[in-house]
Amino acid sequence: MEKRNELYRGKAKSVYETDNSDQMILLFRNDTSANDGERIDQLDRKGMVNNRFNAFIMDELEKQGVATHHIKLLSDQESLVKSLDMIPIECVIRNISAGSICRRLGVEENLDLNPPTFEFFLKNDPLHDPMINEFHIESFGWAVADEVEKMKQTTLKVNDILTKLFRDAGLLLVDFKLEFGRYKGDIVLGDEFTPDGCRLWDVNTRKKMDKDRFRQGLGGVVEAYEEVAHRLGVELPN
Ligand code: TMP
Repeated sequence: MEKRNELYRGKAKSVYETDNSDQMILLFRNDTSANDGERIDQLDRKGMVNNRFNAFIMDELEKQGVATHHIKLLSDQESLVKSLDMIPIECVIRNISAGSICRRLGVEENLDLNPPTFEFFLKNDPLHDPMINEFHIESFGWAVADEVEKMKQTTLKVNDILTKLFRDAGLLLVDFKLEFGRYKGDIVLGDEFTPDGCRLWDVNTRKKMDKDRFRQGLGGVVEAYEEVAHRLGVELPN
């Protein structure tokens, strides 16, 4: 398998084509960003930690019956994935109130949400990823009804699996974002699952162990990611 041209450069990952049109390489860079890319920083070891963390979570989800794009780790910062036709929608589940829902609805942080809430956002940085509903997705042709239902059901299933996985590691899965794509007629989980795209709090102290440490200038960002990885049993080189 040969790495070819960069197809796409996101805020923290780059995507490369390979000599196999069904497969791509994801490069997890050390970049981290906040405010739709307005603030960007380089954090040593972050690409490696996120690459290994993502592989661990994707493997766990596959074991429990969730179809993902992940094929295998290639190097410290690279993974081989299936080449999906990405749907430009973010699926968010919230188990505890935090982040944008507090600003949008004027609710306080740290409320248990029972049942968990589900939200769709349109992937669009210039518009600051506006919240949308199922009608928007179908009316504008971003996905059809069956695909919307599959994304919703899979995100709920991922919430069940990962809430337990993190709880067993002494962490609360506060909220998270997933992205999906089409692959040979199926809807498959794409993008990544790392502390960049979820909120994780220590179950006892409620210390933030995710990207909010960067967004809120709390420091110790990669140290927190490594602590989460360590608690889950993700192997990281020194
Ligand atoms: P929010 O509170 O900013 O709406 O984010 C909810 C969760 O989704 C949080 O864990 C961060 C994640 N998320 C992303 O990773 N990327 C995004 O573009 C958005 C809107 C949310």
